[in-house]
Order: sequence, then C-alpha cells, then structure tokens
Amino acid sequence: MPNSGDRFRLDGKVVVVTGATGILGRLYSQRLAEAGARVVIADRDPENCRQLAEQIRAAGGQAQANPVDLSQEASVEDWAREILDSPGRVDVLVNNAATKSPQFFAPLEAFPLDDWNHVMAVNVTGMFLVLKHLGPSMVAQGHGSVINVSSIYGVVGPDQRIYEGSWYEELGGPINTPLIYSVTKGAVISLTRHMATLWGPKGIRTNTLTPGGVSSGQNSAFAEKYSSRVPLGRMAQAEDLVGALLFLASDASVYVNGQNLIVDGGWTAW
Ligand SMILES: NC(=O)c1ccc[n+]([C@@H]2O[C@H](COP(=O)([O-])OP(=O)(O)OC[C@H]3O[C@@H](n4cnc5c(N)ncnc54)[C@H](O)[C@@H]3O)[C@@H](O)[C@H]2O)c1
Repeated sequence: MPNSGDRFRLDGKVVVVTGATGILGRLYSQRLAEAGARVVIADRDPENCRQLAEQIRAAGGQAQANPVDLSQEASVEDWAREILDSPGRVDVLVNNAATKSPQFFAPLEAFPLDDWNHVMAVNVTGMFLVLKHLGPSMVAQGHGSVINVSSIYGVVGPDQRIYEGSWYEELGGPINTPLIYSVTKGAVISLTRHMATLWGPKGIRTNTLTPGGVSSGQNSAFAEKYSSRVPLGRMAQAEDLVGALLFLASDASVYVNGQNLIVDGGWTAW
C-alpha cells in the first residue's frame, strides 16, 4: 500500500481530458501530466490539441493529441477507436468540455432553439457519447475513475444581481448565466449519480467536480459583486481546482463514488 502522498500520483495511468485546451482543461492537463499521467488531449481544434500535447512533452510529461467534436457521434466513435488503438486503454476520464453558442447571452425570451440544442448536445449528450464509446473498455478492464465537470449553477440558481454592469473582455460584451447552462450542469450531477450505481459494481467510480466562478477576464464590477457573495471573499483561480481533480482522479479517492466535490469558496454554503 503506497503512503498517503503517493496515492495522489497517477504514474502509468492514461487520463483523457475533454475540453483540454480551454481555460481549465489546459491547466488540468499540465497538472495531471506532472502527477505522472499520460494525458490524452481532446478538444475541437486539432492544432490547439497538438500544441498543448507538445508543450506538455517539452516539459517532460507524456501527452498525445486526439481532437474530437463531441456534438457528433461519428466523431466520438472514431476518436474512441483511435484512443483504444493507442495508448490502448483509459484509466481516468475527465468530462470537462462545455460550450457556449452564438447567442449564449440572449435573454430567455429570445434564446434560439438551435443554441439550446447545441449546448445540450455538447454539455450533456457529449458526455453520454463519450461514456458510450469509451466506457465499455473501462468496464472490460474492471477499473476506472470518471470525473464529470458541473458548475455551482447545476447546484443553485444564479444570483442575477451580480450581472448588472458585468463585462467579459474575451467576449466583448455583458455576461449572464443562461438557463441552458444551469440545466445542462444540473443534468451532469444526475448523470454522475446514475453512472455511480450502474458502473460502480463493475469497478468504475463516477464523481462530479463542481467549480465556482474562475477569474479569467471578467471586469472588476463583476468580480467584485461575485466575490462579495463568496465566504472566502474572492473568485477561484484555476489552480484552486487542481487538488480536487487529482484527488478524484487518483487512488486517494478509491472509495468515493457518486459524489459532488464542490470547490467554490463556500458560494453554495449560504
Ligand atoms: N471557468 C469557470 O468559471 C467555470 C465555473 C464552473 C464550471 N466550469 C466548467 O468547467 C469546464 C471548463 O470550463 P472552462 O472555463 O475551461 O471553459 P472553456 O470554454 O475555456 O473550455 C471548454 C472547452 O470545451 C471545448 N469544446 C466545446 N465544444 C466542444 C465540442 N463540440 N467538442 C470538443 N470540445 C468542445 C472548447 O473548445 C473549450 O476548449 C466546463 O465544463 C465549465 O462549464 C467553469
């Protein structure tokens, strides 16, 4: 039995990260590689995947790029086949991808159905497709850890007051949390509970990782209003999520199944 520090290590394990080139996925992939994992970088843009895998290898880690469009079953099927060809197995699956849509911040009354369907297709149906096509190999080997990424808005409703005067530099406009985001993130939590009982008996642990709002280019009006609602008094830094991710990925959480690990500075504790 390894000592307690070693139980967080991932040496020799293959970890698939979807949404791997996004704000959080990028750091997750780097930290998973530092913990010893071989990381499968999965995201939509092949060049971004290739570059991140290259960066990780240049830093001494193990990584490979396997781009995928999670909204298309044929793409997920081909992608799963590639991964099962090389490296040939999956020990940990981090279902981290989520999407915005062209009119993501439109008010509910004007929210296009196409946008609704697209966000659902990636955030929820995409997780189902990944489980459908990669999961059976985990079941066949009889072990694995699945981490599904939700959000505090899958747990509680948004405090609509914090969006007054908000602005997000990267998007060049005001932001809010649309209904479809909350709906898809709530679905992730029930998907986790279902899978925990379905595949738990086959040796697969499934848990949810729920981040609070991460600081990434929101304006100060938003950051201040958000932070004033957080018992710890600030937004998350991406790095704040890493300990919980490594815990759920590794044997440190060997008896944890079906749970939601909320890393939000206490936002949902009020
Ligand atoms: N950043 C936050 O404040 C925050 C807070 C709570 C929860 N989360 C959750 O954490 C996860 C990561 O968030 P992030 O901030 O890094 O988001 P992000 O938008 O930076 O990254 C998401 C990634 O998913 C990828 N993706 C989208 N559609 C895809 C598709 N069809 N196929 C394959 N990949 C696709 C995107 O290309 C992107 O790289 C998401 O599930 C998000 O809901 C984030």
